[in-house]
Amino acid sequence: MRLPKTGTVEVSPSILSADFSKLASEIAEVEAAGIKMLHLDIMDGHFVPNMSFGAPVVAKLRKCSKLVFDTHLMITDPGKYAEDFVKAGSDHITFHIETVDEPEKFIEYLRSLGVTVGVCLNPETPVEAIEKVITLCDMVLVMTVHPGFGGQELIDEAARKCTRIREIAGANIRIEVDGGIDPVTTPTVISYGADTLVAGNAIFGKTDRKAAINAIMAGSN
Ligand code: DX5
Ligand code: ZN
Repeated sequence: MRLPKTGTVEVSPSILSADFSKLASEIAEVEAAGIKMLHLDIMDGHFVPNMSFGAPVVAKLRKCSKLVFDTHLMITDPGKYAEDFVKAGSDHITFHIETVDEPEKFIEYLRSLGVTVGVCLNPETPVEAIEKVITLCDMVLVMTVHPGFGGQELIDEAARKCTRIREIAGANIRIEVDGGIDPVTTPTVISYGADTLVAGNAIFGKTDRKAAINAIMAGSN
């Protein structure tokens, strides 16, 4: 599966806020709401001060979902583990610019594994750090909170980087925002140029996930 073509707004629910004891049914619920992507937050307890889950879990989830697996590697050594996630069924891999010395080569390597590629930058990382690789990617992920935990408040200054990234990227690259996205912050990030909205707490923190997704989508119009 590939990333949805550009020109649409997509919601990518982050299962970080889901009930891990029943992930299959949690995913089935958002899948039934008509979304196309699922955001998988991979944390190693080193690049970020939290741990989540690894490739074996992704492989099991792959058997119960047809969604595009939008895999966000918040790990110190993405080169060591990326292939495991691709083999497990990830369709798209996003790495953090802060973790890779030669991003052009790494993007080429990820493409050779057969996935689409995203580059991510932390709130304190300037756009200049990714400038030369933006057009080599299918998606840019702008962290709008400090990575590691769900349920934080969006940092507006970080979200504003989307405007500059959109200038460089043009219309053919997705810009994804991650952290603090809800029906209230959505119009703002859309106005900055984002078109792909990660949301954890605003979806899995609600009992009616379909209504939660619709509320976010409503904010994007
Ligand atoms: C943060 C993760 C996010 C997070 C978003 O480190 O990358 O994907 O789960 O969660 P909310 O939507 O709750 O801010
Ligand atoms: Zn994420």
